[in-house]
Amino acid sequence: MTFQAALKNTANEIEVMLDGLLSLETSRAPRVTEAMRYSALAQGKRLRPFFVSESARILGADRQQALRVGAALECIHCYSLVHDDLPAMDDDDLRRGKPTCHIAYDEATAILAGDGLLTVAFEIVADPATHKDGAVRAELALELARASGHNGMVGGQMLDLAAEQKHSHDLDEIIAIQSLKTGALFRFSLEGGAILAQAGADDRATMRTFADKIGLAFQIADDILDVESSPEQLGKATQKDADAGKATFIDLFGLDGARQKAGTLADEACDLLAAYGDKADTLREAARFIVERKN
Ligand code: IPE
Ligand code: IPE
Ligand code: MG
Ligand code: MG
Ligand code: MG
Repeated sequence: MTFQAALKNTANEIEVMLDGLLSLETSRAPRVTEAMRYSALAQGKRLRPFFVSESARILGADRQQALRVGAALECIHCYSLVHDDLPAMDDDDLRRGKPTCHIAYDEATAILAGDGLLTVAFEIVADPATHKDGAVRAELALELARASGHNGMVGGQMLDLAAEQKHSHDLDEIIAIQSLKTGALFRFSLEGGAILAQAGADDRATMRTFADKIGLAFQIADDILDVESSPEQLGKATQKDADAGKATFIDLFGLDGARQKAGTLADEACDLLAAYGDKADTLREAARFIVERKN
């Protein structure tokens, strides 16, 4: 199956699963559930669940279980977007081609919807349907918490905001911000499949290193799209990062330099997959997509 077909399949399955997991019928507080559904069921690429399912497939884990882990991770990602868009953070009005959560609802509801998406992720992982072995579920929860929290995505978001107050940024600082705010969730996506498969240390290390490279490449591409794309194409505001003083690779290397860096990272990521042969072709295509994508 080609990468595009595999991504589409996974996206469809994840959307059906999220629809069931975020049920309005069983909601005790429909407004917050509606806001969670508004953000989580909006048109996203679903790349992180795709990487969980690919690493699970290559390493021999069950697909339904991988989809549950992917759905949990997508909930964390969607929460990070809802909070990232708040006035206190990036202050954006458009996300996935629709008004952001706090515009469609209100700020308090958006904060709670984010909190709800964060928490439900751990409910999904801890449920025995995710894996019959409690030790595997505990390891998934541990790594998901590490990837999402103050030494992962949340920490990266803090550094990203703090960097806006500085006049210049160096390479180590930019890499540290990007690898936490964006890289950490990609790291979990590829490692999550390996944990489900109860893979050995070598496979886990390969998946982690692959994720580090594509995670960085992904954020570089996001920063390039902020400069070169449009809200119509991207479904979110553009031309904002430079004025906000965001720390990006473009600051340091210019657009061409940033593009070159992302391409090199994708090549290096693909080279890591040699041991998996043809089985990893869709992952290789995904690495290329990440740097060539238009949305
Ligand atoms: C956007 O992520 C946030 C970043 C980490 C740059 P995506 O580009 O994966 O967003 P969706 O999920 O497709 O909307
Ligand atoms: C956000 O990075 C990364 C997150 C953890 C949400 P950006 O602020 O660049 O993401 P966009 O461009 O708003 O999607
Ligand atoms: Mg941001
Ligand atoms: Mg933002
Ligand atoms: Mg951005």
